[in-house]
Amino acid sequence: MDLAVNVRPGTPPEWLRTRLAESLADLAAYPKPDAARKAVAARHGRSPAEVLLTAGAAEAFTLIARALTPRRAVVVHPQFTEPEAALRAAGHPVERVLLRSENDFTLDPAAVPPDADLVVVGNPTNPTSVLHPAATLATLARPGRVLVVDEAFMDAIPGETETLATAALPGLVVLRSLTKTWGLAGLRIGYCLAPPDLVSAFARVQPHWSVSAPALVAAEVTSTPAALLEAAGAAREVAVDRGYLQRRLRSLGLRVVGDPRGPFVLVAVPDGETVRAGLRAAGFAVRRGDSFPGLGPDWLRIAVRDAATTDALVTAWADLGRRG
Ligand SMILES: Cc1ncc(COP(=O)(O)O)c(C=O)c1O
Repeated sequence: MDLAVNVRPGTPPEWLRTRLAESLADLAAYPKPDAARKAVAARHGRSPAEVLLTAGAAEAFTLIARALTPRRAVVVHPQFTEPEAALRAAGHPVERVLLRSENDFTLDPAAVPPDADLVVVGNPTNPTSVLHPAATLATLARPGRVLVVDEAFMDAIPGETETLATAALPGLVVLRSLTKTWGLAGLRIGYCLAPPDLVSAFARVQPHWSVSAPALVAAEVTSTPAALLEAAGAAREVAVDRGYLQRRLRSLGLRVVGDPRGPFVLVAVPDGETVRAGLRAAGFAVRRGDSFPGLGPDWLRIAVRDAATTDALVTAWADLGRRG
């Protein structure tokens, strides 16, 4: 049972697979992004000039790192390590702002150096599952700074309450991914929402046709009202299943961080390495925490799954405890 990955189980849905299969008939032509760009723009109430389709959110990290020449780049951790890796690969020094477990990884905007001209933050954050208030993040935006908010998991939040996708703030770049909710990790599709001058700067360093025709179809058809309704329903299910997972983990005496809002939870686990190995031997993969800056081996990230899966996990976990 793989609880280390956060892709929604049972995805991609049948209707989406059918649409993707149909798109193969047009593979002889180079991809044309116009329809997808328009659909994504309409979904977020933006203009097409504010949208750039990318080969997953991951490509956007690279485009940002290639297009910008920050004097002081800051990444708020713990978070997904790829944005920092992309900046370093492009030759930019990176400073870290480390949020602390004692305050449940809450973001204090004052911790971000005022003269940082590039700031990267995840919302909701992988791996802490913390959802920062949009209003708090908005205070980080200012002229002369690019603020990148990675919203790869925002569509797993009912109502996307804290999204900045529709906000018109100076230098704000919002990244989105279709990987998690729609089960399209292998297709590579995401997008960035930003002021037109930044979109143009990122587009200039993007390889031609990096987003394939089937990926563009995915972006278009998952932006329809019906698809958004489906995603919203899935987000509500995640919330219910996460509540159950939290309760069961707490019944084992474990500390689940804060008020988790993503499709995963972060848990403080004494002797985490031994527990992770024991769970693996019992057939459960959970995500190690030690590869995230600011965390260590005594942190594990666990994907939200249905109640039956959670019950099986908790039973295996309790058995480890009994065996010592
Ligand atoms: C927080 C976060 N952002 C971005 C990504 C990358 O998403 P994509 O598959 O769209 O490149 C991931 C993948 O795990 C992630 O966890």
